[in-house]
Amino acid sequence: MFPTTFADGVIEKYTQPGDTVLDPFAGRGTAVFSAAINGRCGIGIELNPVGWVYARAKLRPATLKAVEQRLSELSRIAPNFRRAAAELPEFYHRCFTANVRRFLCAARSELDWSRRAVDWTAMAILLINLHGKRDASLSNQMRQTKSMSPDYAVRWWREHKLLPPDVEPIQFLRKRLNWRYAKGRPKLSPSQVYLGDSVHLLPDLHHSIRSLDAPPPRLLFTSPPYCGVTNYHYDQWLRLWLLGGKPLPSRLNGRHRGRFADQEKYREMLEQVFCKAAGLLSADSVIYVRTDMRKTTYDTTKEVLQKVFPDKKLTQRARPFRRPTQTRLFGDKLPKEGEVDLILLPA
Ligand SMILES: C[S@@+](CC[C@H](N)C(=O)[O-])C[C@H]1O[C@@H](n2cnc3c(N)ncnc32)[C@H](O)[C@@H]1O
Repeated sequence: MFPTTFADGVIEKYTQPGDTVLDPFAGRGTAVFSAAINGRCGIGIELNPVGWVYARAKLRPATLKAVEQRLSELSRIAPNFRRAAAELPEFYHRCFTANVRRFLCAARSELDWSRRAVDWTAMAILLINLHGKRDASLSNQMRQTKSMSPDYAVRWWREHKLLPPDVEPIQFLRKRLNWRYAKGRPKLSPSQVYLGDSVHLLPDLHHSIRSLDAPPPRLLFTSPPYCGVTNYHYDQWLRLWLLGGKPLPSRLNGRHRGRFADQEKYREMLEQVFCKAAGLLSADSVIYVRTDMRKTTYDTTKEVLQKVFPDKKLTQRARPFRRPTQTRLFGDKLPKEGEVDLILLPA
């Protein structure tokens, strides 16, 4: 995820209030949210529903009262989901108490998270707290950032004799909600993030930009997926289950796997997205892309950007990692090159 201060800095430097910022690989919507909070119009597209729900809830959160009521309703009907909760694979029984499982099954069945503000906000608060430290989430001990492999997790909990924490979902979520809403809801300029594939959604995006009464984007500000990173969906399998997906992960059947793993398909995807985005931008637009410094991703992204924007002047800035990366936590001692910012300015 982009650090918020970095996103604010780029947006303040390259745009004016009232301008439009486009992010075709929006993730959790950091760039779009930063645009909206700084008086710009942010427009984003995200393929993974988990990122999309977070982004949507940041841009259009329901009121605290409405979300509390919705969570209370789920709590009331949760006992009806006794059977569904009992039939879940072993992983769920060791990860969550029966009480939490019933609540989650109710949320999975009832929340219309893609259409109703109260439901995407309730879903976002559930997704954030679904797993993490044992005493700070709804789950048995897990990492917060990504879902563990179910077999590994079950073995680990067994070895460490760890049982799921006895949390009361409604009380736990109420506390989290109160903390989130403590400063009230932020004032945001009209902005939007769409769920889907940029390759398909970008061609019609000018209608949406017009319907927001916004000018053509002055800044394309994004961070594309890295080549070889196939896990945008796999890492979030448990959260994707809560959004209606399968109860166990499958590494091989990920719909989008081939597009990031195969270098040619990766290039094709990047080229299509940047080409289609180029058709929407203002003539004096700036392109700001943060990506991986490793050779394949870096070379491919740079070549594609220079091909799609031949009239712009490219500068770049290395962004070496200052802190250990996630793979280092698992014993990976290889040096990490970090990230790079590719910036294309009007010549
Ligand atoms: C590096 S992440 C972006 C993170 C983002 N800058 C943030 O702050 O959260 C890249 C994102 O692109 C999304 N993505 C990959 N291919 C896509 C496509 N064709 N259309 C839309 N989103 C896509 C992935 O799901 C992933 O969330």
